[in-house]
Amino acid sequence: MAIFLTGSTGYIGAHIAAILLQRHADRLNLLVRAKTEREANERLWHALQLHMEFPEFRDALETRISVFRGDLTDTRFGLDAAEYSRLVGSTESVIHCAASLNRKSEKSCLNVNLRGTLERVERLKADVPAGMSLPDLALRFILENPAVTTTIPGMRRVRNVEANLAVSDARRLAPPLVELLRRHRWDRTTVIP
Ligand SMILES: NC(=O)c1ccc[n+]([C@@H]2O[C@H](COP(=O)([O-])OP(=O)(O)OC[C@H]3O[C@@H](n4cnc5c(N)ncnc54)[C@H](OP(=O)(O)O)[C@@H]3O)[C@@H](O)[C@H]2O)c1
Repeated sequence: MAIFLTGSTGYIGAHIAAILLQRHADRLNLLVRAKTEREANERLWHALQLHMEFPEFRDALETRISVFRGDLTDTRFGLDAAEYSRLVGSTESVIHCAASLNRKSEKSCLNVNLRGTLERVERLKADVPAGMSLPDLALRFILENPAVTTTIPGMRRVRNVEANLAVSDARRLAPPLVELLRRHRWDRTTVIP
């Protein structure tokens, strides 16, 4: 059985793929956007070359990696029925690192990521319980989902790290609060110019 990892051609995903390959024995199912097998392998090597030598990469590719050429936004990742069933049948757990981060347009980044987010945060603030910070609440809400076992929060200072770590020891959120927070769900469609 394998770990299904998305985003392995990206910054975080490549780190995670390399760590899994170098320190663990699991097989990896990798979702890669590419038109051909050759392109997929080249894109993977481009991302992983910062972390390993080519012979190590080639060995992993031949023995432990299954590449699924697909796109998250397509139904069944754009895989045909046989490929999709091979993916599902061989996957034991999922590490989801793919994300659409538009670094090409500063204006779009600001509009989508900052202004839009601040507006949502303002609305959310009204539902933050007394004595709890917004990042605390957000992390606890994410971890309430039984499908989520790991999350990578931002951190700048030691006190941020300590606060993040304390969250996993904290009490569960009350179900009515979880319901209330669910109403803040934000379905976004990002247009990349
Ligand atoms: N970078 C950090 O320091 C950091 C820190 C904490 C959290 N995070 C979070 O970690 C996540 C990943 O960040 P990152 O810096 O690794 O981003 P990144 O370097 O831009 O990588 C994004 C990855 O997602 C893939 N992807 C995007 N859209 C896809 C789609 N429709 N179908 C399949 N794959 C798709 C990209 O594939 P392509 O190569 O095909 O584009 C790439 O592999 C984000 O949610 C980010 O907020 C990042």
